[in-house]
Amino acid sequence: MAETAAGTDWRAWQESWDRQQEWYMPDREERFRVMLDMVEAVAGPEPRVLDLACGTGSITDRLLRRFPGATSTGVDLDPALLTIARGYFDGDERVSFVTADLADPGWTRLLPPGPYDAVLTATALHWLSTGPLATLYGQLAGLVRDGGVLMNADHMTDLGTPRINAVERAHRHAGMDRAKAAGALDWAEWWDLARKDPVLAEPTAERFAIYGEHADGDTPSLDWHTRTLLEAGFGEARAVWASPSDTLVLALK
Ligand SMILES: C[S@@+](CC[C@H](N)C(=O)[O-])C[C@H]1O[C@@H](n2cnc3c(N)ncnc32)[C@H](O)[C@@H]1O
Repeated sequence: MAETAAGTDWRAWQESWDRQQEWYMPDREERFRVMLDMVEAVAGPEPRVLDLACGTGSITDRLLRRFPGATSTGVDLDPALLTIARGYFDGDERVSFVTADLADPGWTRLLPPGPYDAVLTATALHWLSTGPLATLYGQLAGLVRDGGVLMNADHMTDLGTPRINAVERAHRHAGMDRAKAAGALDWAEWWDLARKDPVLAEPTAERFAIYGEHADGDTPSLDWHTRTLLEAGFGEARAVWASPSDTLVLALK
């Protein structure tokens, strides 16, 4: 990865993370666009946002480019991705980051005090199993102001449609194979690059000690998410966008 005069090229790492994630989700940018449309619809152009399981801060990046008056707190447990996030947003007073484990019942105590207009999260909560995720939804209902919003974009599996699921998966993987042949990096290859970077090597070793390759969680259905969000204290919940493999669920407090 290129180095700038000031050291590590954080923008290059941010962009290479985005390309790696897009290999799995070609509709990722469209999903972010709809998420921000709904933030604007609910909270206007200067929202106070919690970017949950923020990784390198991809959601925060889109948020601030579209709504310069927004503020964002990013929360994650991964020391390497947080190193990139902190480097990329260094000096931007609208942004802060918190290291926390969302499966730890006391994690909200580490946050700047709420309430938040919007809690936004993508491609992350399937790292939790349904028990901790239901608990997390309850905690998030307590962090969002009345009239505020939680949006979760993730894989939501409908077990009642196995044939549709199989053809969708096969089609998606064929596209991924073609992109790979054209040079796209997958998860393991991207982390191999991070391991070789002098600044990221140590936090990368730490993140593998925390998670291993990837934490094992669940991908419950959209019905499970909407029901659990209503039980958690949100007033309404439904999908506001879906691709063949991913869904964006919105819950209004
Ligand atoms: C695939 S990345 C997605 C990151 C970002 N939301 C994006 O769309 O680029 C999943 C993120 O969830 C975070 N994560 C998973 N389990 C977590 C937990 N228990 N506590 C905090 N963060 C967690 C990981 O560290 C990782 O940054």
